[in-house]
Amino acid sequence: MTPALHHAPAGGDLLALLGRTPLARITTDLPCPHPGFWAKLEGLGTGGMKARAAVSMLLGARERGELRPGAPVVESTSGTLGIGLAFAGQALGHPIVLVCDTELEPSMRRLLRTYGVRLELVDRPAAEGGWQAARLARLREMLALLPDAYWPDQYNNPDNTTGYASLAAELTTQLDHLDILVCSVGTGGHSAGLIRPLREHWPELRLIGVDATGSTIFGQPARPRLMRGLGSSIHPRNVAYDAFEEVHWVGPAEAATTCRALAKGSFISGGWSTGAVALVAAWAARVHPGAVVATVFPDGPHRYLGTVYDDDFAAAHGLDLTTAATRPVQIAHPRATEATGWVRCTAVTDPLSSGSPILESTS
Ligand SMILES: Cc1ncc(COP(=O)(O)O)c(C=O)c1O
Repeated sequence: MTPALHHAPAGGDLLALLGRTPLARITTDLPCPHPGFWAKLEGLGTGGMKARAAVSMLLGARERGELRPGAPVVESTSGTLGIGLAFAGQALGHPIVLVCDTELEPSMRRLLRTYGVRLELVDRPAAEGGWQAARLARLREMLALLPDAYWPDQYNNPDNTTGYASLAAELTTQLDHLDILVCSVGTGGHSAGLIRPLREHWPELRLIGVDATGSTIFGQPARPRLMRGLGSSIHPRNVAYDAFEEVHWVGPAEAATTCRALAKGSFISGGWSTGAVALVAAWAARVHPGAVVATVFPDGPHRYLGTVYDDDFAAAHGLDLTTAATRPVQIAHPRATEATGWVRCTAVTDPLSSGSPILESTS
């Protein structure tokens, strides 16, 4: 059923619940022993990590007059921003229309509809640009149908990144010092939004980006991907390419193995992006003894019980969780070889301003 396109704002009460998430110390072997790292548990924040971005984007649009009070908001998302927008929509009084695809888990569909969101489901990927391109095409149709609707465009909207100023401020009060920040990259929002204010506080802070194998964000060829959340088949302009010292590509078997080890050894865990950043954060803590390492766990495990934590899913998708890499293969340039498992590169460039062909595969 389509919800009415008029919402009364729930008001300041909801906004007061935003953020203020706990920081956990992770010391469980991932898969090797390491000195430990800090994990910001964004899955425990009201509306999740992307509630910060959603509130920031809607407030920014309201201030600029691009979003009228009570007008609908239309966005393309595979889930996490959807929950964040559901929260921001209720808090600020805007109906939310989300363009998702049929890959979206049934439980997530139900949750979004329960929050009063209208879902538009795309049922096949575009020949070029995959699911993201197909969702964007439907989004444009929706914008034409709802003339006063606002499209936040999380991939390119700078208010997505500035929404994470609150997360940065929390980290500066929760930590005495920080040497290395490890962030997953999807739209680029939280990595870009954290590193700017955090480097004002800790100027020597290093940033490690974590992408998915098959993602084209950092210059690898776009392939069909199993992992959701991190990675992209487009080049979002919110990615702060010049802020990264290095990038790692992580495969689904490595991420799932790490998620399961986290759940078993630290109780705390999450989805694909959490497994990927935890693997790289543990590695960074191991290879830089004495360094204070922190990362962001974007969400919790519940959404992934039928994927990351499901042996049948792993078998059906050919994921061998016993042979996941324990250290990255180093490559000289993002386009030097195609990453099919955990790969590391210390030359980070914006693919839209550089270009050379893929040479060989690491598998
Ligand atoms: C679960 C999850 N992890 C990580 C990310 C990546 O965060 P960002 O878009 O801020 O780069 C996303 C983005 O959609 C996400 O949903």
